[in-house]
Amino acid sequence: VAAAPLRLVAIDEHNWRDALAVGVHADQLPFVAGHQPVALVVLAKAYVRPGGLEWEPLAVVRGDRVVGVLALAHDAARSELLHLAIDEPHQGQGLGRAAVELAVGHVRATRPGCRELRLSVHPDNARAQRLYRTAGFGPTGEERDGEPVWSLDLAGGSAVRSTTPAIR
Ligand SMILES: CC(C)(COP(=O)(O)OP(=O)(O)OC[C@H]1O[C@@H](n2cnc3c(N)ncnc32)[C@H](O)[C@@H]1OP(=O)(O)O)[C@@H](O)C(=O)NCCC(=O)NCCS
Repeated sequence: VAAAPLRLVAIDEHNWRDALAVGVHADQLPFVAGHQPVALVVLAKAYVRPGGLEWEPLAVVRGDRVVGVLALAHDAARSELLHLAIDEPHQGQGLGRAAVELAVGHVRATRPGCRELRLSVHPDNARAQRLYRTAGFGPTGEERDGEPVWSLDLAGGSAVRSTTPAIR
């Protein structure tokens, strides 16, 4: 059976309970948000707006099922990808990779002024590092809260350096 295509949709009044049901393994929590449900952290940040950024809480949806969550956070020139989590039973099937590609496409399509997409990744998170590297991200040499910061240059597709303070 062919899998339904993956989509990124806003977490809204229709799907927020399904988004809250997305869970990662307890061992993975230090990689993603420190708390579960990850969607709760993402929704809280959209309200609190850390860094004064414009937060976009997103659900990763296959068919009518929420299989993951992530956040994008934007200022005029730069976006961040945060709190990517694929629901544990659905991990290892290529959904994380597809979600990152959708997020990059979404930023390109909706933020024409955005020059760079950044994220931070835990040094022990081999799976995520591999995913980000093959999606075109690379380390900037900066750190945020002990995690290396990686970036994707949306003009050229390679790692770029920035002097803008990191957000959290
Ligand atoms: C990290 C995460 C988003 C990846 O999503 P996923 O759907 O499980 O991963 P995918 O199936 O798309 O695989 C991504 C890559 O990791 C590789 N991979 C899979 N399992 C792996 C493992 N145990 N160790 C190392 N690499 C692994 C895959 O081979 C794939 O690389 P490839 O396409 O070059 O072969 C997901 O596992 C997750 O939610 N983890 C917990 C939270 C987290 O770490 N979030 C990232 C924060 S930066």
